[in-house]
This record gives sequence, C-alpha cells and structure tokens, in this order.
Amino acid sequence: MNKKIVIIGASGHGKVIADIARLNGYEEILFLDDDTSKRSCGRYPIVGTSKDIRQYKDDHDFIIAIGNNRIREKISDMLERENIKQTALIHPSAVIDETAMIKEGTVIMANAVVNAEVQIGRSCIINTASSIDHECVLEDYVHVSPGVHVAGTVTIGKSTWIGIGATVINNLSICANCMIGAGSTVIKDIKEEGTYVGSPIRKVR
Ligand SMILES: CC(C)(COP(=O)(O)OP(=O)(O)OC[C@H]1O[C@@H](n2cnc3c(N)ncnc32)[C@H](O)[C@@H]1OP(=O)(O)O)[C@@H](O)C(=O)NCCC(=O)NCCS
Repeated sequence: MNKKIVIIGASGHGKVIADIARLNGYEEILFLDDDTSKRSCGRYPIVGTSKDIRQYKDDHDFIIAIGNNRIREKISDMLERENIKQTALIHPSAVIDETAMIKEGTVIMANAVVNAEVQIGRSCIINTASSIDHECVLEDYVHVSPGVHVAGTVTIGKSTWIGIGATVINNLSICANCMIGAGSTVIKDIKEEGTYVGSPIRKVR
C-alpha cells in the first residue's frame, strides 16, 4: 500500500518536512493550510484547511509543519481530540542513538545528532545540523533551531525555542516558554520564562 501523509502548514518549514517525508518513502504527500489563497507548497498540493483533517484520518499519517510552538501545540491538541496520532519524521542523515526516545509529531532534520538516552517530547523540532547530547530531556513543543548545540544532561521546558546557532552548556535547566536568541550562550539555569540573548545570556523581555 502507498505510504500517504498529510502535512499541516504549507510554509518553507513545510517544504523541508515534505522532503523528509519523501526520503522516508511517502508516495502521497498532501498539505492542509488555513490560508485558502495558497494552492501548493513546493511541488505538493494544498488540498484543504485544518477543518478537513477527518477525511484523511483513516488512510494518511499526519505531521504538523508549523514553527510557532504555541500554534503547533494548539493543532496537536486538535489532532488528539480527533484521535489522530501524529507520526515522527527523521531525516535519513540524522544520527540518533538507539537509546534515545522520540515522541510522536517530532521532526528531526538533516545532519542532526541525538545522543544516548536523550528524551524528546511530542511535536518538537530538532532542526538542521543541531546536536542534543547525552541524557538531555526536551519537553513537548520545544524547537531547537539549526546549528544549535545542547551539551549533556540539559532539560529544556515545554515550548521553549532555542534560536539558530545558540549553545547550551551541560547540566543545566531552561524553563518552559523561553526564547533564546540566535547565537546566544546559556551558561546558567533559566528559571523564569522570557526572552534571553547574548553570550552569556541576559534577559531582554
Ligand atoms: C531573540 C529575538 C527573538 C529577539 O527579538 P525581539 O524580541 O524583536 O528583540 P529586539 O530585536 O527588539 O532586541 C532586543 C535587544 O536584544 C538584542 N538582541 C536581539 N537578538 C539578539 C541576539 N540573537 N543576540 C544578541 N543580542 C540580541 C538587541 O540588540 C536589543 O538590544 P538593545 O535593547 O540593547 O538594543 C531575535 O533577535 C532572535 O535572535 N531570533 C532568533 C531567530 C531564529 O533563531 N530563527 C531560526 C528559525 S529556524
């Protein structure tokens, strides 16, 4: 039987996820997007909006391609209410230790490395060429941007976004709902939600 997948969110991020789906053997790749002015995403068709999920639920896998952590959570909850379990998608070039645990809806992009005993929650994004070292715990809806390095035994709270090229040293904890700016260096626990930038980081919001 053909492998079929519905990708929710027809953005540039969606195009990257579509290619990972293709490399994972999906032969039918369809998009849903609430912007009804769009017709296609890359070379794949947009066949409806998020209201149309039911008609695909019996014979398609599902994944959400939306970078915004809160919107991804909202749509993920909507899928759960419809008893739709998302798939996880892993680029074939990613290196994933066999003891790592990765929950549904998470996407791991090209050249990412996920090391021993890492736990990654649902609907996370482990973006291009990032690395998550041994025994880290990433809660649900975390986004680790391209080129981020997270050292061993770090905990990242729900919906936190680590900006492109940031570095997080080992044995610390970042709470939920934080934004870590591009290129920043986290060297201490972050206990209060907000936006942090710089090397070492300072709180700006
Ligand atoms: C952190 C970030 C979200 C802040 O955006 P913002 O809320 O619009 O904040 P501002 O641009 O008003 O900047 C606030 C202050 O932080 C500084 N700042 C912002 N981002 C910074 C960064 N990455 N590193 C160092 N300083 C930074 C600004 O210079 C400014 O400093 P000032 O008050 O002394 O002038 C944004 O700059 C950023 O880094 N985004 C990351 C995007 C990313 O990773 N994309 C990848 C997509 S996959």
